[in-house]
Amino acid sequence: MSARTLFVTTALPYANGPFHIGHIMEYIQADIWVRFQRMHGHTVHFVGADDAHGAPIMIAAEKEGVTPQAFVERIAAGRRQYLDGFHIGFDHWHSTDSPENVELSQSIYRGLRDAGLIDVRPIEQFFDPVKGMFLPDRYIKGECPNCGAPDQYGDACENCGAVYAATELKNPFSALTGATPELRVSEHYFFRLSDPRCVRFLREWTRGDDRWGEPRLQPEVLAKAREWLGAETNEGGDGGSLADWDISRDAPYFGIEIPDAPGKYFYVWLDAPIGYLASLKALCRERGIDFDALLADPATEQVHFIGKDIIYFHVLFWPAMLHFAGRKTPDRVNVHGFITVSGAKMSKSRGTGISPLRYLEIGMDPEWLRYYLAAKLNSHVQDVDFDPDDFLARVNADLIGKYVNIASRASGFVARQFDGRVLPADEVEDDAQRERVARLAAQVSDAYEEREFGAVARLTMAYADEINQYFDANRPWEMAKDPAQRDALHRVCSRCLVAFHRLTVLLAPMLPATAARVAELFGTPPLRWEDLGVADGTVSPVRSIGRYSHLMTRVEAKQLDALFEPPAETAKPLAPHAGAGATTKATTPTVSIDEFARIDLRIARIVDAQPVEGSKKLLRLEIDLGEERTRTVFSGIRAAYEPQALVGRMAVVVANLAPRKMKFGVSEAMVLSASADDPDRPAALYLLDVHEGAQPGMKVS
Ligand code: MSP
Ligand code: ZN
Repeated sequence: MSARTLFVTTALPYANGPFHIGHIMEYIQADIWVRFQRMHGHTVHFVGADDAHGAPIMIAAEKEGVTPQAFVERIAAGRRQYLDGFHIGFDHWHSTDSPENVELSQSIYRGLRDAGLIDVRPIEQFFDPVKGMFLPDRYIKGECPNCGAPDQYGDACENCGAVYAATELKNPFSALTGATPELRVSEHYFFRLSDPRCVRFLREWTRGDDRWGEPRLQPEVLAKAREWLGAETNEGGDGGSLADWDISRDAPYFGIEIPDAPGKYFYVWLDAPIGYLASLKALCRERGIDFDALLADPATEQVHFIGKDIIYFHVLFWPAMLHFAGRKTPDRVNVHGFITVSGAKMSKSRGTGISPLRYLEIGMDPEWLRYYLAAKLNSHVQDVDFDPDDFLARVNADLIGKYVNIASRASGFVARQFDGRVLPADEVEDDAQRERVARLAAQVSDAYEEREFGAVARLTMAYADEINQYFDANRPWEMAKDPAQRDALHRVCSRCLVAFHRLTVLLAPMLPATAARVAELFGTPPLRWEDLGVADGTVSPVRSIGRYSHLMTRVEAKQLDALFEPPAETAKPLAPHAGAGATTKATTPTVSIDEFARIDLRIARIVDAQPVEGSKKLLRLEIDLGEERTRTVFSGIRAAYEPQALVGRMAVVVANLAPRKMKFGVSEAMVLSASADDPDRPAALYLLDVHEGAQPGMKVS
């Protein structure tokens, strides 16, 4: 196969919280596939981004009194430590709230409009008169129209399971303000998916093959698509069963403006997948690649990795958007199931599931998780369970007991008795053994390509078993005592080390850091597939081995206990959204209680907040400390807070700080905030909250 050019993405996570283990599983799956392609010499552009827009993020930011931009910026700043921590090799991480995405979204929209696929229609919707905004269904509550259960959401009843329109709720109220919503009419923009052209195209597209003659959708995904498209019952007919898609939202909305439609924004799911292209575009600029040419090239393959909950968007809306805007459509949409923890569905609340950050913090090896999840993943849409006992048994048995075991047993003899010299593969393997390896390499290659990672684990561990048996059967520890068997000993151990090196090549997409250490151990460049030395004209590069040091440790039961233990209160980062990397360790010397008492901490009410002309960092605050007059404070929190959101808010201040003359005036106190103390993340800054009831002027001690 000649070199491929691949554009690979994972779903764009909502920028409303840190990564959870489900995200990490998706990234590990995609990363393994990408690394496999790269080891074959293929070019891969592997990108991700934060999905920044939408009402929930806008509302969450408002609740914290920060701009949505500052809010998502704070989330974005926390991503790196997870991606690096689990060895996820994205080429670029972007945001849907970016100039590239604005341009691409508007251009794709114009394409759809020119194709006659955009409609404008008035719709009746609930409006919150207090908040002054139209309410998404999940922010409307009321009594179920079917069973009368109180406090149900605007789309479905959790009590009886009925599905309904928000307007059918009895005694509806806004979950944001409690106000009774009013029905108001507003113009909405629709993507006319019911157009026969769309249905016809999607029936074709979903059934289609990729360029290698493999179906572009997994069978279970295709079955879903056919259900939605009515393909079984309505073959060839015109009237599809797809409803038109409402792609607009009214201001106020955190999103991208619709061209020629003042006050209208794209619904977040319109611009979210376009974020894939935006991220690629940003990467192309960074690397001097021609973005348009790359995507226009029919040889470029576009591959998406997503979870089972967002199939609809990726196999109907997304290809239709691209196709009718005259762009390349995906070659493949690879869907995975959900991860459960000990059989239980993951919950976002604290104390359940596993925190990826905690996994890293307590020093667990990321490659264990990569291997464990890989060993459970296949090409189907099946859920994967993380079971702690199974994790320990599997990692220790396979990686330590089988794979690493080969190197730790054979390397000692070679190092001590043969100066680290390893006999080349063609001297230590016979034809049958060579053929065995060639067959194995081909099977593993196919399995990776098809995302049958579980099969990769089975195939490689079966080979590791054979090599361990070979070692045992030859009893090298006895050979070592007999000078007459010196050559035989060298051959046996060399064969084991060659096999170990090959196993490392085969496992490298799953265990990239271990593979890098093994390459170092053998003194070879980074591993490539051809280092297997089984294809024509290639040879295994193994000639010598350096000093063996531990490649990987065993999983300890107490580590898993620590992983599941709820984190200690004191260990909680100050800013729950920033991730633990944002906290700085408390290492300052202690103070006596008397020294502490010299600091006069007080509650203050912020009565006014204004930007400071000529300063990007400062806000001018007027604060009420319960004294006859307010004080002026210059506070470096502009990157994180909208001035207006601060008015009326309580804060904790140092009241007896010596007044400080600044360029813009005198600052008469200091407002306390938590921060990441990182110049690259000016928005990672958090004012302290004061519980209701505290009054301006109260002493804090
Ligand atoms: N923002 C949308 C995706 C937009 S793509 C243009 C979204 N975000 S998400 O954060 O909720 O999910 C991101 C990805 O994580 C999705 O592929 C989703 O299926 C996946 N997962 C979320 N929970 C998961 C598990 N418990 N297990 C595995 N993957 C899961 O949807
Ligand atoms: Zn009900």
